[in-house]
Amino acid sequence: MRIEVAKPATRLARAVRSRVIRAEAVHRAESNHHLIRISKPPRAPYIARFKRSAVKAPAGWANPPIRAMPSATGPDRMQNLRKNIRTLIGIADHKSRDHRKFYPWGFAMNGQTSRLEAVRQMIFAAEIARIIETGTYRGTTTEWFAQFGLPVETVETDERVFAFSKARLSRFPNVAIHLGSSVPFLRSRLADANINDRVLFYLDAHWENSLPLREELQIIFTHHPNSVIVIDDFQVRDDNGYHYDDYGPDRALTLDYVERSNLPAYHAFYPATPSEQETGARSGWIVLTPDPAIAERLRTIPLLRTI
Ligand SMILES: C[S@@+](CC[C@H](N)C(=O)[O-])C[C@H]1O[C@@H](n2cnc3c(N)ncnc32)[C@H](O)[C@@H]1O
Repeated sequence: MRIEVAKPATRLARAVRSRVIRAEAVHRAESNHHLIRISKPPRAPYIARFKRSAVKAPAGWANPPIRAMPSATGPDRMQNLRKNIRTLIGIADHKSRDHRKFYPWGFAMNGQTSRLEAVRQMIFAAEIARIIETGTYRGTTTEWFAQFGLPVETVETDERVFAFSKARLSRFPNVAIHLGSSVPFLRSRLADANINDRVLFYLDAHWENSLPLREELQIIFTHHPNSVIVIDDFQVRDDNGYHYDDYGPDRALTLDYVERSNLPAYHAFYPATPSEQETGARSGWIVLTPDPAIAERLRTIPLLRTI
């Protein structure tokens, strides 16, 4: 919100004006509203000041005309500026054509060729109709998904990599990239989704301190059980060569974490390829499906093993 006060000419008038603006900022912070209409600007502080300094405020000055206009507040403005700068950097990253920015882990799915082939087979075996990824990052895996010609949606919170991926994926009409957090995104997307469409979810929005996985799973299990869920960076219990994410107590990507998530019954699969035969970053992964008919189809894939 921006407050405009008629610009007075004298020093005293300017002092009054700045006082009004400061008082209004306090009022605005307290009211916790994005947009307020100022009907009664606070009078006491500057009237007291006039008394102390023995200066008589000319009529009308104690209540100068104030016009409130919609605009960002101080902290909001800083946040917007930061976001805009990150967006510009993302566009510059894309323009740089730096290979390492396009393929930070070598290729899609951390450069893990066995996983890529397993997921390719899952898409065909389960007759997947749509793909949803959480955590776009540089769009490397999204771009690989795009090549199946299915509708692909992906969501990313960070403006810089969002801007990068938006430019990168713009040549794919079947890809939609969203800026925002995965949990509200899934909630809104799945509320009106066609339940007959089999969806492949690629859950990869865990990063630094962010671990939305439990809520992501709960939303998918509730709203779209007709699905195959692949989780990246997941512990493969009997194969320590696969790395997994551990963010602290009850925040490690393990079967225990999934079991503590109050989910309905599901079928689970690990990679059948031992970690020493996998390529790339060798990050662990798991496949879940709440649907017994889909599980039946996944059992035909030699690159998966039932847990
Ligand atoms: C490991 S990277 C994703 C890599 C990508 N899927 C790929 O295969 O190339 C994780 C990404 O998730 C994003 N992220 C973190 N928390 C998120 C959230 N709650 N919603 C959406 N994206 C999130 C991070 O900004 C980061 O870009």
